[in-house]
Amino acid sequence: MAKKEVPVRRQTTINAQPRLHQHAQEIQAYGTVSHALPLELEEPVRLEMTEQLNLLLADTMTLRDLYKKSHWQVAGPTFYQLHLLFDKHYNEQVEVVDEIAERIQLLGGVSLSMAADVAETTRIERPPRGREEVPVQISRLLDAHQIIIRHCRQLAELSTKLGDAGTNDLVVSDVLRPNELQVWFLSEHLVDVPLVHAEDPDVRKAG
Ligand SMILES: [Fe+2]
Repeated sequence: MAKKEVPVRRQTTINAQPRLHQHAQEIQAYGTVSHALPLELEEPVRLEMTEQLNLLLADTMTLRDLYKKSHWQVAGPTFYQLHLLFDKHYNEQVEVVDEIAERIQLLGGVSLSMAADVAETTRIERPPRGREEVPVQISRLLDAHQIIIRHCRQLAELSTKLGDAGTNDLVVSDVLRPNELQVWFLSEHLVDVPLVHAEDPDVRKAG
């Protein structure tokens, strides 16, 4: 009679414990792009575009955070309306950040993400930690917008020249135009018009 075969038990240990504190090398270095992608865009073009987009990303992330700082720290009689407006613009910039970062990734690049890296890269002046007056807050925001808008116009031209229509569309439709709109909403707050008494020139002459 044949001996009954005993099934061999695999020696793997089944364990419900999560494997914590793991480390490994990066799978892609910052500043590189994936070599081959079916995008009909050559590697040097994607390298140039991702480098430019990372600069735009760093500035946009800084502007986004400047809006939250302004939202929290605003003071004065216009507190409520500015508190809400700053947060509205913050949320819109959150969307812009995501659009830029994901374009960098889809072009085969690596997007900046952490605050320390953003701080090293941005061209926007660092504000103090403390609170500032409303006109100063708004001026800082407008200066930041101006840096981004200037770069958008350069990048729109460059992306067209290099044949990257997708980046051109993103920069013009999703970055430039929302920034232009926010500039309008902000800059109207710096127009010095009377709040209660209109300045009637005839009344001034008579006085
Ligand atoms: Fe809030």
